[in-house]
Amino acid sequence: MTEQATSFLSDRITSLAESQTIAMAKKARELAAQGYDVINLSFGEPDFQTPQYIKDAAKKALDDGFTFYTPVAGYPDLRQEIVNKLKRDNNLDYKPENIVVSTGAKQSIANVVMSLVNPGDEVIIFSPYWVSYEEVVKLAEGIPVQVKGTIDNDFAITPQQLEDAITSNTKLVMYSSPCNPTGSVFSKEELEAFANILAKHPQIFVMADEIYEYINFTGQHASMAQFDFIKDRVITVNGFSKGYAMTGWRVGYIAANKEIADACDKMQSQITSGTCSIAQKAAVAALKGGRGSAEEMSAAYLRRRDLVLGLMNEIPGIRTYVPQGAFYIFPEISSYFGKSFNGQVINNSNDLSMFILNDAHVAVVSGDAFGADECVRFSFAASDEKLVEAMRRLKESLAKLV
Ligand SMILES: Cc1ncc(COP(=O)(O)O)c(C=O)c1O
Repeated sequence: MTEQATSFLSDRITSLAESQTIAMAKKARELAAQGYDVINLSFGEPDFQTPQYIKDAAKKALDDGFTFYTPVAGYPDLRQEIVNKLKRDNNLDYKPENIVVSTGAKQSIANVVMSLVNPGDEVIIFSPYWVSYEEVVKLAEGIPVQVKGTIDNDFAITPQQLEDAITSNTKLVMYSSPCNPTGSVFSKEELEAFANILAKHPQIFVMADEIYEYINFTGQHASMAQFDFIKDRVITVNGFSKGYAMTGWRVGYIAANKEIADACDKMQSQITSGTCSIAQKAAVAALKGGRGSAEEMSAAYLRRRDLVLGLMNEIPGIRTYVPQGAFYIFPEISSYFGKSFNGQVINNSNDLSMFILNDAHVAVVSGDAFGADECVRFSFAASDEKLVEAMRRLKESLAKLV
């Protein structure tokens, strides 16, 4: 399109980056459509089907006539089940009025940021971070401030780093644990150290994204909201996409103080209203069914993690961190920068991921999208055969770079 033709679009949309994970998936699909055997490790979703008992509940919801608009914040029974889950899994006390169900945790996060951030407010984002955090902060005209962990430090963030990043304009801190893309997990002690710092700054809120809670290989999940002295300022985000393999159903939620929950309800009421009725009834069944299916899937991810790590560690020039949760490996690949193949020089993670896609026909996401250009993200939510073949091709292709 010409410059003139795009000028009618708002500054808001033109300055927004396209989600790179979605863009990469699109390119991979294009190559596949041309007949190439593309192994797609760029997706942020389980390769498992949603468990049957959840599908059955959705069918029943349809037959029972749940086809009408739903309450904006979610059906009362779903909000109650979420309250029960937060008590059972996280020892957190909430009431249904503290819960807002949204069309995916992505919407929950957007609601929170839109409800809290004024233009010019600073939002501290623990980096590497999930792709949408920075863009949604920019949409709210906030200023993203990255606090970065590196592979040398197991992607940990120190309390001192947090303290140094805080200013009188800081409004919100955002992180995910288990983390997408690194797979790092904050321990209770680490979160407590952050909470102690934030206790000194009563104007700062925390968005704790716990969507990978059920895919945690350490066996221990800690929530920032567990610290009573800061709980009122913590918004816990969670959802069904990852743990229950329900990405397409679009159900996420927050637990927060009532004022924030009401604000998110109000925001959502003007944008999408209540989440799909059938998906909500399926989510009720998911929670009532407990964690069994999630644990089975998590065991499979752990096995695949070790399979991929073993093969990846044999490839020269790649440094890996052993992910403690989620289903991604986020290796450091900067030793390939400056190398080339057939005149094509690799200058950054984007060049490298395009090279890997074009040469190995393996789709990955450049670390740049997550605030870490020295890395590349591989999902291991794929079959053993695909993972083994992807690593074989990767090794062969990277060896061509000199
Ligand atoms: C860290 C993180 N938070 C939130 C989301 C959004 O999940 P949902 O599918 O519920 O919108 C994702 C999905 O990739 C994620 O990785």
